[in-house]
Amino acid sequence: MENQIVSNTEGLSRVDGRLKVTGKAKYSAEYSVKGLIYGVLVGSTVTKGSLKTIDTKKAEGAPGVLSVLTYLNAPKVPGYQTDTPPPKGPLKIFYNDQIYFNGQPIALVIADTFERALFAASLVSATYNTDVHQTDLKANIANGFAPGKGKDYVKGQEDAWKSAPVKVEQEYIIPTEVHNPMELHAIIARWDADDKITVWDKTQGVKSTQRTIAQAFKLAPENVQVNSPFVGGAFGAALRTWPHEIAAVLASKAVGKPVKLVLSRADMFTAVGYRPHTWQKVGIGATADGKFTGITHEAAGQTSTYEDFTEGVVNISQLMYACPNVNTKYRIVSLNVNVPTPMRGPGEATGAFALECAVDELSYALNIDPIELRNKNHADTDPLSGKPYSSKFLSEAYKIGAEKIGWSNRKQQPGSLTEKGWLTGYGMAAGMFGAYRSSATVTARMMADGTLVLQTAVTDIGPGTGTAMTSVAADAMGIPASKIRVDLGDSSLPPSPTQGGSQVTSTVGSAVHDACLELKEKFKTLAGTGDATNYTQILKQQNLEKLEVTTASKANADMSKYASYSWSVHFMKVLVHPATGVVKIDKAISVADAGTIISAKTARSQMIGGTIMGTGMALMEEAIIDHRYGRLVNNNFVDYHVPVQADIPQVEAYFVNKPDPVINPIGAKGMGEIATIGVAAAIANAVYNATGKRVRDLPITPDKLL
Ligand code: MOS
Repeated sequence: MENQIVSNTEGLSRVDGRLKVTGKAKYSAEYSVKGLIYGVLVGSTVTKGSLKTIDTKKAEGAPGVLSVLTYLNAPKVPGYQTDTPPPKGPLKIFYNDQIYFNGQPIALVIADTFERALFAASLVSATYNTDVHQTDLKANIANGFAPGKGKDYVKGQEDAWKSAPVKVEQEYIIPTEVHNPMELHAIIARWDADDKITVWDKTQGVKSTQRTIAQAFKLAPENVQVNSPFVGGAFGAALRTWPHEIAAVLASKAVGKPVKLVLSRADMFTAVGYRPHTWQKVGIGATADGKFTGITHEAAGQTSTYEDFTEGVVNISQLMYACPNVNTKYRIVSLNVNVPTPMRGPGEATGAFALECAVDELSYALNIDPIELRNKNHADTDPLSGKPYSSKFLSEAYKIGAEKIGWSNRKQQPGSLTEKGWLTGYGMAAGMFGAYRSSATVTARMMADGTLVLQTAVTDIGPGTGTAMTSVAADAMGIPASKIRVDLGDSSLPPSPTQGGSQVTSTVGSAVHDACLELKEKFKTLAGTGDATNYTQILKQQNLEKLEVTTASKANADMSKYASYSWSVHFMKVLVHPATGVVKIDKAISVADAGTIISAKTARSQMIGGTIMGTGMALMEEAIIDHRYGRLVNNNFVDYHVPVQADIPQVEAYFVNKPDPVINPIGAKGMGEIATIGVAAAIANAVYNATGKRVRDLPITPDKLL
């Protein structure tokens, strides 16, 4: 069979799957901590200005209320800088009277039950001094400025595409998209005696949350215990420690009891970041036979006034294709909104939408098949650094995807295929993201009963890290997966990276691999000349309860000689209803070059999840602000549409599954980001192929196709 996954754990199911589907996996809000009380945030109803008065009396008198925190009475956060005027930086909660965006927390009501806190929160009232606000990206693009990092990039000649024989130039827009994981952000914070803090917190990185909270409250990091064994999706929204987490700790300090704070779905739109509304313009030119001569990519994305957020929106145009002349420019626009944050495929998902649509548009202008055009401009070495790739099997991915989708059925002439009265089209697009490896430490402990325990602080936000680590250890130790237990999501365990940037399987997987090899060596020494693989027997002979190693593992120096990326290709077959403009995905195929596939089932889920997220980006997701008030109007799951089961009929994931020989000993590259990068472009390209209508401002809603 082609693309077969070769591993002795090929059929390994998610090791925590049973816990998850039986409700036994405990998420941050589900811990029953003794004496627990509840906090509910109150948000600003204006968009820019300052608090004139804030009346908390009624709320304080409501049943069950213990306290109402505002900037007037909240305990100070010692780690907040007190400089005036403050430089740009993370929002400091309950710090002063300033209002930077609509929904900014102005009070935290603390009560003995959640319902009482929620009711009392409705009794808090405030008056404001208001200033004129700006929340409209389009109206403010001229005010964009170059961020500190991300300088304008010029290779060869600027705007060379303009003098090409065949060229296209278009503008592309993505709206604000919100991560909206199923699990709401939640924290239980307990200020323990003698200046120790324990939190059960939704986070992508227990060690980084530990550091941030310790810094804020001027404690030694080891005095802050962070527990996050299960996370119900995050996609970047839990990469950093947000003001509500600090607020919960503050509340626990103020009231002397453990405080639970769960954000509402509406809070999820203003408290934990989003993919920013971004405008892009791409000009691309080619010779008549399809060789790119120039690419110009400009972008402007929104940020807040209090903190700059930047992402590599235009980087993909510097990296994706062999092209002698490339120039890019990236600007950010400060608006009276909450600060954006990385969201799955940060930068590249946005950039790939524009670049991969532009390449598709050029393919029609040239009358060249879109895959052929991409292959003609395939980069054999990294266009940015000139370095060789550690591995790249993108062309193979094109081949696999084309066959699986039935690309040969595609017609180059848009609007020429129908199925049962629906316009039918095929589209494709590629994606890429850096393949990284950082440092991690793993304890591997063989117990007398033959159980191998692996411990490291990494969190698993959903991709199945525990399962992948089990798979690596099973291979390395030659024992069945059922004999392996993985402990993670606990800041007291050996240090591990934040789960982000598609680096965990590469980084922690390598550390697990290295730890297992070291443990085997230890067994070998112990066994002398005998069989060193019968671990329980050796432990028994030596009268030992266990044998363990703690191994620190980091990237090898060779990595810097290479450029390392993961690659994805997405193929879509779509149906468009000619009378209503409804778009249905008929079939979606994603193919990844992510090195060796460590855990077949969870890798497949990861790719499918990325396709679904990209489908939301392409067809439905859009956070809308009413600019008159600067307020979101669809901050709920009724009005902010995400794909549901019926929107996703058939998604297939395939892997080239060839090891990267450089990046790490297990050959694995990342997959989380590339699963989404390029999907929206593939859908937009398929919709064009079906209808002849090119929609360049996402989402592609039916009205735009009529
Ligand atoms: Mo991802 S945006 O690195 O969580």
